[in-house]
Amino acid sequence: MNLKQLVGIEAAKYVEDGMIVGLGTGSTAYYMVEEIGRRVNEENLKVIGVTTSKATEKQALALNIPLKSIDDVTHVDVTIDGADEISKDYQGIKGGGAALLFEKIVAESSKKNIWIVDESKMVDYLGAFPLPVEVIPYGSTQLLNLFAEKNLHPILRRDDNGTIIQTDSQNYIIDLHIGKIEHPHQLADWLIKQAGVVEHGLFLDTVSTVIVGHPEGVETIQV
Ligand code: A5P
Repeated sequence: MNLKQLVGIEAAKYVEDGMIVGLGTGSTAYYMVEEIGRRVNEENLKVIGVTTSKATEKQALALNIPLKSIDDVTHVDVTIDGADEISKDYQGIKGGGAALLFEKIVAESSKKNIWIVDESKMVDYLGAFPLPVEVIPYGSTQLLNLFAEKNLHPILRRDDNGTIIQTDSQNYIIDLHIGKIEHPHQLADWLIKQAGVVEHGLFLDTVSTVIVGHPEGVETIQV
């Protein structure tokens, strides 16, 4: 079993009958969704899922996990999601899979957030992983210029054919290759104030439990 699968299965143990569960996105969250699907089908687990992307919605539907829109639930009990980096003070970067906007909306609606990662995602400081910023297409070149002026080393995200990637909300992603983010809260406050920025991938003071996969086994950290 690989480390992503290990933590995905471990996190699914936190899901109980009657819960409304935020289902994250990405290659680690994939295994958690598979395991919840298995429990729904084999153990008759009764849950309602709230998905954070079209990809996760498709996966959950194929597994017959009952779903509701974030707009049709009063709350979310727990959201389980992956992360691109988690710092030593448990701040995170997410959005490598371009799902940061829905992920943040669901995370902020959740009573509890569990992040599942393999040990390679645990870092001292955020920023080695490029920070995704979701922007509307209109004016995105101006934002690229602004971020470059501020030495944030922006790159507009494209696929292997050079086509600009669009999010589930038809926005663009600008990845900021910062290297080391000294003051994540300050950066987050500045980014969100720029016209055209819809959301950024700094998930600050969000997580309640981190489940880390090591070759020796699972480590669970209560934040
Ligand atoms: C999706 O946009 C992301 O926030 C993912 O949760 C994050 O990129 C982690 O993905 P992996 O589990 O695929 O590394």
